[in-house]
Amino acid sequence: MITLGIDIGGSAIKGALVDLDQGKLVSERVRYETEPLFKPRVAAELVEKIRKKLDYHGVIGVGYPGVVKKGIAYTAANLHKNWIGTDIAQLLSNQTGQPITVINDADAAGLAEMRFGVEDAHLYKTVFFLTVGTGIGSAIFVDGHLLPNTELGHLEVRGKEAEHRASDAVRRQKKLSWKRWGKRFTEVLNTYESLINPDLFIIGGGISSKFENYAEYLKIQTKILPAELENLAGIIGAAMAAKEAELP
Ligand code: BGC
Repeated sequence: MITLGIDIGGSAIKGALVDLDQGKLVSERVRYETEPLFKPRVAAELVEKIRKKLDYHGVIGVGYPGVVKKGIAYTAANLHKNWIGTDIAQLLSNQTGQPITVINDADAAGLAEMRFGVEDAHLYKTVFFLTVGTGIGSAIFVDGHLLPNTELGHLEVRGKEAEHRASDAVRRQKKLSWKRWGKRFTEVLNTYESLINPDLFIIGGGISSKFENYAEYLKIQTKILPAELENLAGIIGAAMAAKEAELP
């Protein structure tokens, strides 16, 4: 089964055809950069451009960086406020002529990691998946079941939202050393530990491939592993969500 997965991010929209049996990309990854705070209309045009380029017909899965319920966006932390209240599924379906399923981007990436990424992730009772990039996204799994839209990147950590304290964007903007960023990220993880007490953390997003640079600075009790699918997880998970939504 081949399905188109799309990942809407703060600075780019990416898409590829995904083989859902293997959890692998079977086309090139098409990527369009976006202006900061782009609006839904712009995204709709780019999604259609990706679909045409990959010559795809069928259900499309889309990961969106905010709370999304039944295809409608409820938040837009790092995007234009016009997204809030937008029926993304309807908008993209009108633009592409295809059925659309929309899911939070971190939830999508977490689904893909649980199924095709970190080996044995499903053996842990509670898994806390994080995606660290422009923002911080969270996806919590209990016995392999996702608790959607947890949004713990916005949890307050010592008076500041977690993602304003320790996202990858903050690390770059403030030119933090790995040691200093690791200290900040530790505070975030400690807060999650005291709230959820997970059995495993998985760190996804662009920063997952640099795990060896900061692992030694993370002073936490819980086991922690880097994601395996890196930033392809969002695309793969979005495609998985579309397929699942099709089931009766
Ligand atoms: C959004 C989340 C998203 C995360 C990562 C946060 O700002 O609120 O929905 O998962 O960024 O993109």
